[in-house]
Amino acid sequence: MCGIVGYIGKKEAFPILIKGLKLLEYRGYDSAGLALQNGSLVVYRKKGKVAELEEFVLSQKHDGVIGIGHTRWATHGEPSDKNAHPHTSMNGLFTIVHNGIIENYAKLKDDLKEQGYTFKSETDTEVLSNLVEYFYSQDEAINAEMAVQLALSKVVGAYGIAVLCQAEPDKIIVARKGSPLVVGLGNGEYFIASDASPIVEFTNQVVYLNDEDIAVITKDSFTLKNVQNTPVTLKISHLNLEIGELDKGGFDHFMLKEIFEQPKTIEETFRGRLRPDYSEIVLGGLLNVFPKIQNADRIIIIGCGTSWHAALIGEYLLEEYAQIPVEVDYASEFRYRKPVIGKNDVVILISQSGETADTLAALHLAKEKGATVLGICNVVGSTLARETEAGVFTHAGIEIGVASTKAFTAQVTVLTMFALKLARARKTITQEEYSVLVRELAAIPEKGRQILLQSNDKIKAIAEKYKDAINSLYLGRGYLFPVALEGALKLKEISYIHAEGYAAGEMKHGPIALVDDNLPVIVVAPQDDYYEKIVSNIQEVKARKGNVIAIVTEGDKTLKEMVNDFIEIPASHPAVAPLLTVIPLQLLAYHIALMKGCNVDQPRNLAKSVTVE
Ligand code: M6R
Repeated sequence: MCGIVGYIGKKEAFPILIKGLKLLEYRGYDSAGLALQNGSLVVYRKKGKVAELEEFVLSQKHDGVIGIGHTRWATHGEPSDKNAHPHTSMNGLFTIVHNGIIENYAKLKDDLKEQGYTFKSETDTEVLSNLVEYFYSQDEAINAEMAVQLALSKVVGAYGIAVLCQAEPDKIIVARKGSPLVVGLGNGEYFIASDASPIVEFTNQVVYLNDEDIAVITKDSFTLKNVQNTPVTLKISHLNLEIGELDKGGFDHFMLKEIFEQPKTIEETFRGRLRPDYSEIVLGGLLNVFPKIQNADRIIIIGCGTSWHAALIGEYLLEEYAQIPVEVDYASEFRYRKPVIGKNDVVILISQSGETADTLAALHLAKEKGATVLGICNVVGSTLARETEAGVFTHAGIEIGVASTKAFTAQVTVLTMFALKLARARKTITQEEYSVLVRELAAIPEKGRQILLQSNDKIKAIAEKYKDAINSLYLGRGYLFPVALEGALKLKEISYIHAEGYAAGEMKHGPIALVDDNLPVIVVAPQDDYYEKIVSNIQEVKARKGNVIAIVTEGDKTLKEMVNDFIEIPASHPAVAPLLTVIPLQLLAYHIALMKGCNVDQPRNLAKSVTVE
């Protein structure tokens, strides 16, 4: 949530900052702002998208080789010019951009009010800027860095901040706790951002700040320490992000590009892991911990949103093939519900971004309890990737659409490889079963291409029919129950149509009451072991005049005659069917949202990575 950028060097800061903010806009997009240092400090803030800020700044003087910027996802105070960042302290000494939540801001604000401070916004960030100014003004010996350290020592909550000080105009101070920050190291210049995408154009050398790190950056120096003032060893990482990954590549939207990329991204997830003769699955990142996993009492898989749906598929795969007990939990529940975790448990955290606050809190809890803690993550260098003991990168490439698509299929691909590898190691499946499954998995990209090629226009026509629905129901069984949940999430998050995902067998216990001739019921119904059961569920919907849109196996005559609309997919093994069946659901949500005039890539109220609770 919220994107931060900063620049200090020899170039004009404005074009670098505004471009960076556009790349980070997926993190929040209700208002934006920036501050430029050029003798005096000028702050520009605007409600709305970064483009509106750009237009506003361009109409004014905007020089400066030092600056910070922010794109906001509102937490404290509605989206407005006055609540947009940066926030300047009462006497104009400090200007701050902030990602995160200062949980004790109300108490700090009251204390500052008693000291005579007044406030112009409703944000927690303005409290922080005044708190820094307060400490700075207490003693002449206190410099800007010390004032920031003192203020942060009083703060409860999460922050990624970039700070400018009017009295020390040649530097930017940055610090993090819970919210990511990366610093790009250039030649006589430094770049600051919430993730590496705004930096990759300028340098591939970066430093990822760790929790409680604080850095003072001038154009010629970068000093890193801990907020408690202890020195920190500088670890320079290399970026291998391609700039080309950051554009729409000829598609109208990032989401559509990312849906169409899936056959390729699944191949990327396979790369170096699925041996060409399918004899072995290599998961190098798990090598050292594999014996522990093999002998674990239990595996607990944790995630949020789409990553939690992938986790559910992982549960089904691991229990069926590796015959190991698995539990799946929402990170936000796990972290607070006092779960019983033993040293012989393996906890797998799944996260596209690797920065989701609840998932990171769950990670810390599992570590504290002594479990083996693994990550399945898309972003190299993310907090999750750095703080887990071992793990597997999904290698889906940067995902910019807020609605997760290719990251989901990459997560499910990793989980499938993991389950099969573990099953083989535990000897719970035979070599023959294993070979069949691996071949089925390897065939997915080609079958995915076929779906994308043959179904897009048909799905568009179906979307036209159902775009005005108010409610919808998504049903599936077995491996396809989590796919139904994922389909419903896609529709609701980008089209704002109420969508419920349900296990088809549960329908008669409540949701069937919703069925009437206005309700589209999307049923994931390929020919698998549950086929007859799901056909009965479809009959139950039809008997109540519901409109059924079914995802069916190519050539399925029975369902084609029974349902209102159908989308055919190639036959596949049930264990890998989620990777195919989800594609039509992603496309359906995309086309409906587009027809309703919704902002597909940046749906209202959402942000790509949820770095606050
Ligand atoms: O980055 P993460 O995978 O941890 O994010 C988890 C959820 O916030 C995310 O999947 C969210 O539900 C997406 N908007 C779904 O499309």
